[in-house]
Amino acid sequence: MITKGILLAGGHGTRMSPLTKAVNKQLLPIYDKPLIYYPLSVLMLAGIRDILVIVNKGQLNQFRKILSNGERLGIKINYIEQKTPRGLPDAFILGEKFIGKNNIALILGDNFFYGQSLTNKLKNCIKLKSGCKILLHSVKNPNLYGVATINKKNRILSLKEKPKNSKSNLAITGLYFFDNKVVNLSKTLKPSKRKELEIIDLLNKYKKKKKIYPEFLGRGGAWLDTGSIDDFYNTSAFVSALENRQGLKIACLEEIAFNNKWISKKEIRDAINFYGNCMYSNYLKKLI
Ligand code: TTP
Repeated sequence: MITKGILLAGGHGTRMSPLTKAVNKQLLPIYDKPLIYYPLSVLMLAGIRDILVIVNKGQLNQFRKILSNGERLGIKINYIEQKTPRGLPDAFILGEKFIGKNNIALILGDNFFYGQSLTNKLKNCIKLKSGCKILLHSVKNPNLYGVATINKKNRILSLKEKPKNSKSNLAITGLYFFDNKVVNLSKTLKPSKRKELEIIDLLNKYKKKKKIYPEFLGRGGAWLDTGSIDDFYNTSAFVSALENRQGLKIACLEEIAFNNKWISKKEIRDAINFYGNCMYSNYLKKLI
């Protein structure tokens, strides 16, 4: 069972500049809460309570202000600063000590997941014993993403970064589950032309050993990569439409922790005090 997760919340944020010049992307709002709440909620829905958040150098205090050490959410959050955004697999090198002898989940700080039976799928993924599991989702423009080709038996045939003419429209989303070999495998990666360690190279190492397995979000699920300005606002619109229609919040961390029985009514009351008089607090009041 995977009990530890890494949330990558650093990065250049170039596509979102100038919004990201002073503030990290993951702290910007997606409708009514900071972006980081959404990927964090995914780890929590998976049942993962031991989390390492990787942030840019000099930005640690901003993240601590909002998430602290995780205690009020019934989880444990550790932080590490990444000196420069050296690429996604750097998470496993920086996180070596945190990972220890365990298997590990990785989620990108700007990825948004939503959908029916997402929790069940996540619970299935954390059962991974060896190899690696990736979450695939169909997209209209696969040339913008890492893309997987699969056969009829759902075996992965190829993994390519931003292919020009791919027959497959299955994008590799920013949620991955790895066995413990990932630490040493990441250390063997060489930086690419853009001087980053590439996740696709890491995944291809698992593919070579026939140890990579797909999970599918399915048609009923939504995956949004909020890295560009348009995607960012589209995600906000999506959350606003759903929340206002259903009266249920997406990625309310306290609600997830409460449902998981990780916190009690007392912590919800503390959270209401922490947030002050706002929409989010009003929602928490209704929970208790
Ligand atoms: P990207 O979308 O690849 O990069 P970015 O956020 O720096 O944005 P841009 O391309 O516009 O410059 O990163 C995906 C997520 O992973 C994002 O949330 C930032 C994070 N990240 C790190 O924390 N460290 C890294 O070394 C990299 C490459 C990304």
